[in-house]
Amino acid sequence: MTRKTLEVLAVASEIYPLVKTGGLADVVGALPAALGRQGVAVTTLVPGYPAVLAALEKSQTVLVIPDLFGGPATVLRGAAAGLDLLVLSASHLYERPGNPYLGPDGRDWPDNAIRFAALAAIAASIGRGAIRSYRPAVLHAHDWQSGLTAAYLAYGGPQPPASVMTVHNLAFQGQFPASLLPRLGLPDNAFRFDGIEHHGMIGYLKAGLQLSTHVTTVSPTYADEIRTEQGGMGLDGLLRYRGDAVSGILNGIDTEVWNPASDTLITARYDVSTLKEKPANKTALQARLGLTIGPDAPLFGIISRLSWQKGLDLLPAALPRLIAGGGQLALLGAGEAELEAAFRKLADEHKSKVSCTIGYDETLAHQIQAGSDFLMVPSRFEPCGLTQLCALRYGTVPMVSKVGGLADTVADGHTGIVFDAVNEAGLAAALDRAIALHHTPRAFKALVRQGMAQDVSWDAPAKAYANLYRALAGHAPQ
Ligand code: ADP
Ligand code: GLC
Repeated sequence: MTRKTLEVLAVASEIYPLVKTGGLADVVGALPAALGRQGVAVTTLVPGYPAVLAALEKSQTVLVIPDLFGGPATVLRGAAAGLDLLVLSASHLYERPGNPYLGPDGRDWPDNAIRFAALAAIAASIGRGAIRSYRPAVLHAHDWQSGLTAAYLAYGGPQPPASVMTVHNLAFQGQFPASLLPRLGLPDNAFRFDGIEHHGMIGYLKAGLQLSTHVTTVSPTYADEIRTEQGGMGLDGLLRYRGDAVSGILNGIDTEVWNPASDTLITARYDVSTLKEKPANKTALQARLGLTIGPDAPLFGIISRLSWQKGLDLLPAALPRLIAGGGQLALLGAGEAELEAAFRKLADEHKSKVSCTIGYDETLAHQIQAGSDFLMVPSRFEPCGLTQLCALRYGTVPMVSKVGGLADTVADGHTGIVFDAVNEAGLAAALDRAIALHHTPRAFKALVRQGMAQDVSWDAPAKAYANLYRALAGHAPQ
């Protein structure tokens, strides 16, 4: 059977392995290969940050823009790390080192509204055929940074191509002053409640939710949560109004990057039939982090942004429970200064039992996944979450709160421990359960095996995206 290849232009502000601040990059980096297996050809439009330009191979200029918000720009077509890219090269907007959103003072770049309006404007013009040899059937925008894509499409002429807006995190909405409107190149009549206006401001994510043909988020439960007043962060009304045009498609993980059987970043490789090799990773992790070496202490791993979302401010109060139960903690994270300081202090107070590494470290992330007994994710809300999926793949039992994608991917008592109340008591009770489980090796191993048997790959989600794209582009489903 020959399948018609469908061309999709993804639009995103980060992409693994070139630029990453969180799970968004993982998703944008892994979906193209998975979609390729479904007969969908994805090209991704990304800003020309220094790291992207440096990695780009065999590039060709396919579009020249003499003045893009105050400077010249080109679109380069090329490849990097196996990804087909369109790179928006505009030195006045993107050629700044380091974090894609923050300046050296740790604050948002003051021109972020323009930087990401430019990305969306160029995406829309490519969607309308600005590059002669390339005409995508669907545009797929990710998060607020590409949220205006649908607005530039909607106000740019009749019959725009279909568009999808994916919400990875409703907490980041990209709200900017209304006074910016004349600079954006959108018509005045775009600034209305059913356009880009949001509480008197310009809402980039809101515009995408309002004007895209379809809206997805990264798990079915989060798709339900964001349609409630409690979880909707002020956008629930609009999301309810969009009805069936909103759906949830669960994330997967790149099962080649995250494969305990071939992972060269860990000490000992294993799969479900060679689980006896896994403890060597625990020993190595304990040694690396200065924790007391031994197989018996239940070792809890955490790999996370340190923010209110992740619920980790509850950990200091619950920690005595973990320590009293003979447990150990290996935390890797970066984020809010207060939390970083709190964890540094805990590690100082409980040397040999608690280790907190503040920073971003891919190698250590793999080693914590392989070496821990449990992976803790006590989020207050979690659109999907990827670290619990990696944990399942690495035979590390996830201990998660019952929210969003965590609720959709971990089955309490079958593949992990799921707890309801995201507060100190709830976390302490979950820790007690985990420690008791670790003392019951047969039950513990059953969870490990059941978790490792779960399909956490992109196969099923990529099928769902492919079917969605085909439906939107008017192609027959496969
Ligand atoms: P979010 O996108 O909300 O931060 P996810 O669980 O979806 O959460 O994705 C986080 C991704 O970032 C995972 O790939 C995780 O391994 C990685 N990660 C988070 N913090 C760190 C860190 N400090 N060092 C290395 N990797 C990290
Ligand atoms: C966001 C969410 C996280 C999700 C990731 C990728 O950063 O916080 O839950 O897994 O995006 O979709």
